[in-house]
Amino acid sequence: YLVGSASEDSLNRRLAHALVAAAPSSMEFVEAPIVDLPFYRPELAREFPEIGARLKETVEGADGVILVTPEYNRGVPAVLRNALDWLSRPMGLNSLTGKPVMIAGATPGAVGTAVAQSELRTVLGFLNAHLMGQPELYIRIRKEQFDESGRATTPGTQELLERAMGAFEAHLASFAR
Ligand code: FNR
Repeated sequence: YLVGSASEDSLNRRLAHALVAAAPSSMEFVEAPIVDLPFYRPELAREFPEIGARLKETVEGADGVILVTPEYNRGVPAVLRNALDWLSRPMGLNSLTGKPVMIAGATPGAVGTAVAQSELRTVLGFLNAHLMGQPELYIRIRKEQFDESGRATTPGTQELLERAMGAFEAHLASFAR
């Protein structure tokens, strides 16, 4: 999974951990760090830097990818957008082609990251990723609403996370290599 936040105490990382905790026990997860990626530029990409190569390797080796993101100014935060740009290059070697993907986002704000996720759907469609359509995870929540074990303390949210991870397992199975 990728977390679209550079915050040290990210609400969205908590959501990512809650999703991991809500997943069927057969699934394994690793966070692919993206915060230290330099801004993509072609001059850098010619000698593909280790940090970009490692991200591509992690994503390409995974059965699927979960993007958990805040919304910044009604869009995808730059840190995640930059990671998607690195994954899409070099030209013709897009790491997200055919990759099953699920998206989620958390915010205390009223629209629950729906606008950022809508933008993400457009980008992922262009990148030929196999995006899971539903359930949608627009989580309007505060940090205190996750307990020590990472579970959401709102029962309805916890039920939604469990349902989504079950659906993602089925989504992965339908694209199994
Ligand atoms: C925000 N935040 C925000 N929230 C939202 O729901 N819609 C938005 O458009 C924005 N815009 C926005 C811009 C910028 C620059 C910042 C710093 C914040 C609030 C945001 O959701 C909140 O800070 C979350 O806690 C961010 O998630 P992480 O970083 O804690 O995972």
